[in-house]
Amino acid sequence: MKPEALTKIALFTLSLILINSCGAPSHEGMGPIGKQGMVVSAHPEATNIGLSILRKGGNAIDAAVAVQFALAVCYPAAGNIAGGGFFVIRTSAQKVYTLDFREKAPLAASKNMYIGPDGEVVKGLSTQTILASGVPGTVDGMVKSHEKLGSLTWSAVIQPAIDLARKGFSITRRQANDLNSIKKSLIERNTWKPVFIKDSIWKEGDLLVQTELALTLERIRDSKREGFYSGPTADYIVQQMLESGGLITHQDLQDYQSVWREPITGNYRNYTFYSMAPPSSGGVALKQLLGIISKFDLKSAGHNTVKSIHLMAEAEKRVYADRAEYLGDPDFVAVPVNELTDEKYLSKRADEIKADKATPSDSIKAGVLGKAESMETTHFSIADRWGNAVSATTTLNGGYGNQIVVKGGGFFLNNEMDDFSSKPGSPNIYGLIGNYANAIEPGKRMLSCMTPTLITKNDKLYMVVGSPGGSTIITSVFQTILNVIDYGMSMQQAVSAKRYHHQWLPDLIQYEPTAIDTVSVSGLLAMGHHLKKIGNIGRVDAILIWPDGTMEGGADPRGDDAAKGF
Ligand code: DON
Repeated sequence: MKPEALTKIALFTLSLILINSCGAPSHEGMGPIGKQGMVVSAHPEATNIGLSILRKGGNAIDAAVAVQFALAVCYPAAGNIAGGGFFVIRTSAQKVYTLDFREKAPLAASKNMYIGPDGEVVKGLSTQTILASGVPGTVDGMVKSHEKLGSLTWSAVIQPAIDLARKGFSITRRQANDLNSIKKSLIERNTWKPVFIKDSIWKEGDLLVQTELALTLERIRDSKREGFYSGPTADYIVQQMLESGGLITHQDLQDYQSVWREPITGNYRNYTFYSMAPPSSGGVALKQLLGIISKFDLKSAGHNTVKSIHLMAEAEKRVYADRAEYLGDPDFVAVPVNELTDEKYLSKRADEIKADKATPSDSIKAGVLGKAESMETTHFSIADRWGNAVSATTTLNGGYGNQIVVKGGGFFLNNEMDDFSSKPGSPNIYGLIGNYANAIEPGKRMLSCMTPTLITKNDKLYMVVGSPGGSTIITSVFQTILNVIDYGMSMQQAVSAKRYHHQWLPDLIQYEPTAIDTVSVSGLLAMGHHLKKIGNIGRVDAILIWPDGTMEGGADPRGDDAAKGF
């Protein structure tokens, strides 16, 4: 063999060793693989922290808590301590837990708080002001999940985020652009100058050091929930409310409790899925979508073809119409989950779908039941060597929430109140409408679309999946699942595949530029569909577990997301 050939082989072998040790893709179309653990999150720093926890012998729950705190530092657009979200957890003992740490309306909130004297919703009040913030749930959620299911010490899982905040990290190009683009509103909305405002422009590689946030995280490390909901952190939040005209009080903070809820579970083909129950609409909607679509032969309809897009859009219209009418916080309204996900009801909804013609949204209503966001959220998926897994979606709602940073605390506040229906029929930032079930009430949780989901096959973990994207979360998760189960894609291919979305109102199939080819666009138009090309849909971070136990990560190329395994 020629020396060049030997060198080539040596280089190839070396690159394989390097590839395997840092978890990069093993070959085209496939995401990074791991045997012992896998973390997929929106930022490489957070993924590294999660992986280091797993390497130290921590379980998936330890890693999830560590990643959540890390994202609050390195991904402030959506990672948070003053937001909320949902964890869907499966343990090695095959038990599934779902934790709701969704924000709540402050006690002083009221039904018409965003309605002006003319009877209309005041633009921006529920998104761009301090009145947009719900009572944060994340810290209580992290404490509760760690206490119940974590294995390392509390300080071990939070310390990496503290170090990251104190030492700083290099921001990505996307983050630099983001921070530059919100500079004007940061100046306008804040009563002080948080570190996110820089006199010169932000550049890729700039170091972002967050000393105040490090101190806040240390209080949480030392006093757990009390480090956030009382003491100096709570004082800073309440002081910010007083300065900027907000509603959250010490009482609101002390009263906040996250809640363990029963998962929404069901079967799709030979798989079982577990997803989030209300106050997220994600699990119910996913169960409805999978139930309706299972009546059709999607595989032979083909991927992103006129036939499959038509079927999925028609299913989506009906599911989002139900969502607008029936879904809300189960602690306040009776949500007819069983009726909405009943097999017969879903068959009836499937029968309404015409094979060759779109049903206009204005002739679709919520079903009659038998009885009875720049926008930013973030999803991460974690699996460990013992079979524990966490599917986690958390959010501030809009990008950087309401873009108000708590003075002294160093963290962004959420603008989650916009997820309530401010007025029946009046769309929120995602164009979603709602009614009585999701009206504002003191202490109530606003309806969410977040859909953190776990899938098992023959009682073995099969997939960990979820996405940000406001109203498009549900359909992004839905498509990713179908891409693997019906279309046989790898995890990475399923995540990278182009997406489309229908949410009943507006009556539009919204699609990523190359998701639907021009011939199919014409075909769909001829059936009576309306179409609109939009930017990115969703940002899915997911894990697929192969039959031999190998974990394949799928990080969404639409962001800076990173998957790493070992
Ligand atoms: O809970 C919800 O459904 C929304 N607040 C999620 C917001 C979101 O996904 C924004 N991200 N891109």
